[in-house]
Amino acid sequence: MTSPLLEVGGLCVDYLTEAGNVRAVDHVDLSVEAGEFLAIVGESGCGKSTLLFAIAKLLSPPAEITAGSVVFKGRDMVRLTEGELRHVRWRDYSVVMQSAMNALNPMKSIEAQFTDAMRAHSEMTTAEMGDRSAEVLKLVGVDPVHLRSYPHQLSGGMRQRAMIAMALLFTPDLVIMDEPTSALDVVAQRSLMSQIKELQQRFGFAVIFVTHDMSLVSHYSERLAVMYAGQVAEVAATRSLFEKPLHPYSVGLLDAFPSIRGPRRPLTGIPGSPPDLARPPVGCRFQPRCPKAMAECLLRQPDLYTVDGSRVRCFLHEPAEVGTGAAE
Ligand SMILES: Nc1ncnc2c1ncn2[C@@H]1O[C@H](COP(=O)(O)OP(=O)(O)OP(=O)(O)O)[C@@H](O)[C@H]1O
Ligand code: SF4
Ligand SMILES: [Mg+2]
Repeated sequence: MTSPLLEVGGLCVDYLTEAGNVRAVDHVDLSVEAGEFLAIVGESGCGKSTLLFAIAKLLSPPAEITAGSVVFKGRDMVRLTEGELRHVRWRDYSVVMQSAMNALNPMKSIEAQFTDAMRAHSEMTTAEMGDRSAEVLKLVGVDPVHLRSYPHQLSGGMRQRAMIAMALLFTPDLVIMDEPTSALDVVAQRSLMSQIKELQQRFGFAVIFVTHDMSLVSHYSERLAVMYAGQVAEVAATRSLFEKPLHPYSVGLLDAFPSIRGPRRPLTGIPGSPPDLARPPVGCRFQPRCPKAMAECLLRQPDLYTVDGSRVRCFLHEPAEVGTGAAE
């Protein structure tokens, strides 16, 4: 069996604040195969961006990786130096942030920003850089005349496309995206999603896509990881998670969004809000909001159990103990 493109193991990220440690990513295990589209969903504050920043090695203080590994193409990124990372970032993996307005430099044209990235990470000639800039912009459906535009001269959708074009300059193996469509209206969102999927299939790169909107990724991702309070609550094939969600939190999330094709039904959502990660509840973290909570959910934390190829952190799916009562 070949090893996955990315394997995150026991990853912990803490915000080391004066008021105490906040563990925003708590022993996360995830893997991404080459060419796979993995979506990460969860409510605001559950640690999605912190996890992505940790994987991309873009965290800055007070955030710190305190345990675990991020093995990408066979190398543990947690242990790479900044110098070693420079060879990997952009070329082997790239990152698209939530707001292109913040990620792009307002003082430089799109072409100047593309050129800066290529100059820093390759030996390309000026002519090659010009050709490549036009090529990637065309790939995302933006006319190359906009290479001369400044970010504020582009619409929100075009800016996000320019960011994605920049992420594709070196045709990386992995593109990490943090809510890249959330600032757009619904129509622009769907059109950008289709475009991302088309590019992913054409070039074969893997995608990790963070969103709080499950319905957005339902048609595009192969697998879904649901995060709750810094932990993975459930990981499953997208179809299986939509058809038969195992974790009560996944059920709640699905009820919180209108289904795209299904019959109209009232949206119930999940009452309450996620816990303060500075003081997570004892026992299962979802227990204060869980309609299925049992006495033992207050006492200890569930592990991630494997059920029919899915993984779920809930006692309802804890395998029955085998092998007890063996002869003495
Ligand atoms: N600068 C900080 N200092 C201390 N704690 C922080 C800081 N930034 C984030 N956190 C903690 O990390 C948790 C996770 O934050 P993160 O931004 O990763 O969540 P998210 O899932 O991306 O949320 P959103 O959907 O709003 O983008 C927060 O709930 C908060 O407790
Ligand atoms: S372990 Fe208990 S509280 Fe937690 S999700 Fe499952 S049933 Fe609900
Ligand atoms: Mg975020």
